[in-house]
Amino acid sequence: MANIQAIRGTKDITPNEIHKWHSIEQILKKISENYGYREIRTPVFEKTEVFSRGVGAGTDIVNKEMYTFADRSGESLTLRPEQTAALVRAIIQNNLVAENPTARLYYIGAYYRYERPQKGRLREFHQYGAECISSPYPESDAETISLADSIIRELGIDEYSLKLNSLGNESSRKTYLEVLIEYLHKNINNLSEESQSRIGINPLRILDSKHTLDIEIVKNAPNILEYLDAESQQHFERVCKYLEAANIKYTITPTLVRGLDYYSHTVFEFQSNYLGSQDAFGGGGRYNKLFSELGAKDTPAVGFAMGIERILLILDVLQKQIDSSGNVQAVIIPTSNNYYEYALRIAAKLRNDFSISTIIDLQRRSLKSQMREAGKISAKYAIIIGDSEFESRSITIKYLNEDGRQIIINEDDLKQELF
Ligand code: HAM
Repeated sequence: MANIQAIRGTKDITPNEIHKWHSIEQILKKISENYGYREIRTPVFEKTEVFSRGVGAGTDIVNKEMYTFADRSGESLTLRPEQTAALVRAIIQNNLVAENPTARLYYIGAYYRYERPQKGRLREFHQYGAECISSPYPESDAETISLADSIIRELGIDEYSLKLNSLGNESSRKTYLEVLIEYLHKNINNLSEESQSRIGINPLRILDSKHTLDIEIVKNAPNILEYLDAESQQHFERVCKYLEAANIKYTITPTLVRGLDYYSHTVFEFQSNYLGSQDAFGGGGRYNKLFSELGAKDTPAVGFAMGIERILLILDVLQKQIDSSGNVQAVIIPTSNNYYEYALRIAAKLRNDFSISTIIDLQRRSLKSQMREAGKISAKYAIIIGDSEFESRSITIKYLNEDGRQIIINEDDLKQELF
């Protein structure tokens, strides 16, 4: 019988890779906290309507990518395809903005989309994201983009592009949509089949279609930025100014619309040349209407999310060495099966009294192969218990990462020697 395989588009993160994840997560937490953001965790599944209403019925995510199922009581549930809508549900339910007018929140977790798996595109993937709730002002757009930029730099990614656009407020977007739809209808025969069917559902998405036919038509399409009303224009100009003041480079990209329905005003995306066709490793924007979509009073908000697997791909290309040391410091090597009792006592002492991470060989291997193992896992100390050590209640410590010197000490002198 064939072995059972993991589900297509999902990946195990083995102990050999986990240190990279830990290092990235540490950076994400540190920088978020430096910006005053606090972590929030929500369940991995929600009632389906959180996303169908929140993310939007016309989006690819809701139409074809959600893992939706009926539970045993017949209720429709969905594995979260993203965090923002679920986070807004949690803020409303826990009344988080009542505590503090500005809620600054971040999250790290697993998300699920039924997409065609390829490099950088998975069905279970991980995102880090941050959301700044309750400020309608461009300062908060700039704050979240600065937070993302600080993280990207701290990760050692010093080459990336930030694409920036404004979708305007509701009324300016309505005016623009009318002109856009008219233009698209005029050119309908030259659009890709997918875009032809999108005109009536989600015409904005046609602007960032990657289909060559669409790209030609979009080249001459009306520019959304020319349809911003005074309020929307002012907001966008301020965001640009603040980014310049923070020395963050951006490219204004009027065709950037993003794939989720909840955006208004600012939208942005972080792209890297190192990723191939899935070149966005982060994206976000302002979403002033999401709270009311989910039944609460209007609350302005802005935020972004980044894909952790895509960050790892970039770091791999850049060959950035993230701290790769294993965490075992000491390996205890009994040279005879009779010394295990003594070895276990030494191990307990190291772990409990001195907080030194310690392992003992459990395969009863030879001294030589245990020493090889200790080298392989980059342990700091090999602690050898041979005949004379056992008899005199002492141990031999070999310093593996220094000059390999070794000393024999009494069991009771451990502390002095190791600290
Ligand atoms: P998104 O652009 O759909 O935005 O996803 C954000 C990031 O998640 C992407 O840039 C990408 O790096 C990663 N990602 C998305 N799908 C996959 C996949 N199938 N496999 C691997 N990585 C993936 C959002 O999710 C919004 N909630 C962002 C946001 C927060 N907007 C406002 N606040």
